[in-house]
Amino acid sequence: MQKVIFDTDPGVDDAMALLFLHKHPEIDLIGVTTVFGNASIDVTTRNAQFLHREWGITAPIAKGAGRAYAPSRSDDHPASSVHGLDGLGNIGVPDTIDLPLDPRPAFQFIIDTVRDNPGEVTLVAVGRMTNLALALQADPEIAGLVKEVVVMGGAFHVNGNVTPAAEANIHGDPEAADAVFITPWKLTIFGLDVTMKTIMSSAYLAEMTASGGADLKLLSDLSQYYIEFYRQRVGLDGMAVHDSCACVYLVAPELFEYRTGPVRVVCGGLADGMTIQAPDSGRRFEGSAWDGQPSQWVALAVQPEKVLETLRAA
Ligand code: BDR
Ligand code: CA
Repeated sequence: MQKVIFDTDPGVDDAMALLFLHKHPEIDLIGVTTVFGNASIDVTTRNAQFLHREWGITAPIAKGAGRAYAPSRSDDHPASSVHGLDGLGNIGVPDTIDLPLDPRPAFQFIIDTVRDNPGEVTLVAVGRMTNLALALQADPEIAGLVKEVVVMGGAFHVNGNVTPAAEANIHGDPEAADAVFITPWKLTIFGLDVTMKTIMSSAYLAEMTASGGADLKLLSDLSQYYIEFYRQRVGLDGMAVHDSCACVYLVAPELFEYRTGPVRVVCGGLADGMTIQAPDSGRRFEGSAWDGQPSQWVALAVQPEKVLETLRAA
């Protein structure tokens, strides 16, 4: 069993990823940490509580950052046009959910859990990377104690989805992402290069959820607003299962192809939040921001049907 902390901003595609982690027999979900992004931190945390209650998830929830890592950044950028005002497709989530939170802030929960399980915890971050950056700032030694870090974020050889240069999870907190990417730990990044190729059609979702019970009925209901966003704004009949790509990797890494090399994030200016990977071999780009930085894994190709099959099987 892989011990996983899921750092998330639910979020429709976050919800599907959470259900996958909860259901998959090889995953031991030992914590859920929330972050602002698809909605404010109060809303994403309430949504995590709601999904836990509805799906019977017992992993502790620790509330995380409500604003970006760098003090100079503005507060937040809720993506209500993508995920709905309530962050879960406007299905009418109650304002409050009576489910206790872990008393610690998310970054402290991450530090304590990693220190209690040295070499065993995988951090899966599918929102702004603020909580991870705060944890590293407070306790840099955790970098050597986690098993692995997996993130959804970035756009390497394709356009972004907030600006032509930047994807939402990075654009919402570029300094945090850069801090995470220059840390020497095993890090694998799933950006729009693969997630925008992993589209679950509305028919596939309907068939998948029709065969299940109340858990899947909820997943179907909360996905409809997001599917409508993709229909109107992206011209697709279906939805990108961004965050699930990072989670499927945990059990089926062979479904992706990777390139290795140091990754940096542009912080400021026209290309704010752009992710750029230098190659591992050949030129070192001496004196540049990439020179001497740790190498990270970036997924650049995917077998989408098999990713969907893996989701469906769980
Ligand atoms: C990412 O941004 C959010 O809207 C999604 O949940 C996903 O994590 C895709 O750019
Ligand atoms: Ca997300």
